[in-house]
Amino acid sequence: MHIRPADDRDAPGMSGVLLDIIALTGRMRPHDEAFVRSHYITNPDSIWCSIALDDDGMLGFQSLVRATPGNRYGVPQGWGIIGTHIRPRAHRRGVGTALFAASHHAAVQAGLSSIDASIGADNPMGLRYYEAMGFRTYREGDGIVQKMLTLPAQAR
Ligand SMILES: CC(C)(COP(=O)(O)OP(=O)(O)OC[C@H]1O[C@@H](n2cnc3c(N)ncnc32)[C@H](O)[C@@H]1OP(=O)(O)O)[C@@H](O)C(=O)NCCC(=O)NCCS
Repeated sequence: MHIRPADDRDAPGMSGVLLDIIALTGRMRPHDEAFVRSHYITNPDSIWCSIALDDDGMLGFQSLVRATPGNRYGVPQGWGIIGTHIRPRAHRRGVGTALFAASHHAAVQAGLSSIDASIGADNPMGLRYYEAMGFRTYREGDGIVQKMLTLPAQAR
């Protein structure tokens, strides 16, 4: 497995990852290449977005963006917001864990105090994954569970 920062050539592959997850979960969400570019690759609030690849192509990606005023889930400013998207054929092979090592490093480098993960309450794999990465629930309601990871003060 190889991990590197996402760039413009990755938009079709990232869009394909989102489509495969939609096929697995049945939960529709934005997924086209224009969305992937604006939301992940060229987002001005992006701190870090990395992709994981193997010889057969893209395995998944993880994004870390800065929480801005008025963000969708009311995440405090100064925090990061993380999102993880792994192709179903690659689930449970450590891809999410490897991507998180890169995102955690980027979060510390950026001086973030905490990272938020906002997860559907009906998404047990997402909830278990973020728990395994050290996140803990700080707020829930309206079908969303918000987990946070506090970064060590000495790292800021
Ligand atoms: C959730 C997701 C990101 C996990 O990625 P992954 O690459 O499969 O995760 P890893 O293989 O690194 O798993 C790390 C740990 O997380 C936990 N975990 C991950 N998937 C799990 C599952 N389906 N059930 C239970 N625990 C799970 C386990 O503790 C696992 O360690 P283990 O395999 O040694 O027991 C991936 O399943 C995914 O992209 N799902 C669809 C989109 C999504 O739900 N995104 C996150 C919420 S927005």
